[in-house]
Amino acid sequence: MATEVNGESARPFFVGKKTDLVEAKRSKITVGERDIIIIHHQGTFYSMDQHCYHAGGSLINGDIEELNNMLCIVCPKHKYKISLEEGEGIYKASNPKEPTQPPRWYSKGIKQRVHKVTEVDGDIFVTLSDCPGWIESDYYQNEKGREELKKAQDDESNC
Ligand code: FES
Repeated sequence: MATEVNGESARPFFVGKKTDLVEAKRSKITVGERDIIIIHHQGTFYSMDQHCYHAGGSLINGDIEELNNMLCIVCPKHKYKISLEEGEGIYKASNPKEPTQPPRWYSKGIKQRVHKVTEVDGDIFVTLSDCPGWIESDYYQNEKGREELKKAQDDESNC
């Protein structure tokens, strides 16, 4: 049985031709009511919610780095790091109880909703995540979150 995600069934949505998405490297697409990005990096497609779970920054131009043995996108706004595969938020810190130890990576858990990308005969499809429960990036996919984003963008453009 298909699961509902933002009013959309968890089924594959055609999002473009492989050749176009490979050339673009990064694409912003709205599937149903959900704003997502599609990234082509080192021969693999990834997809996740477009707006960063932290404060809604767009991830479309985030650098991709290998951190803690994971490919991560670095949000351009405040540099939060999110794994491409799982949407896991990670950060590096020192343990104050072990001041002589070097900083190490810690996980905040899954923070960004990631979506499944599949290819059929040169066509690319995205199946929205139907992972149950709240994931923090869901906030910027609802009306309240979108209003907040718009207000922040308006404030930035008035500076
Ligand atoms: S909005 Fe992405 S790190 Fe703050």
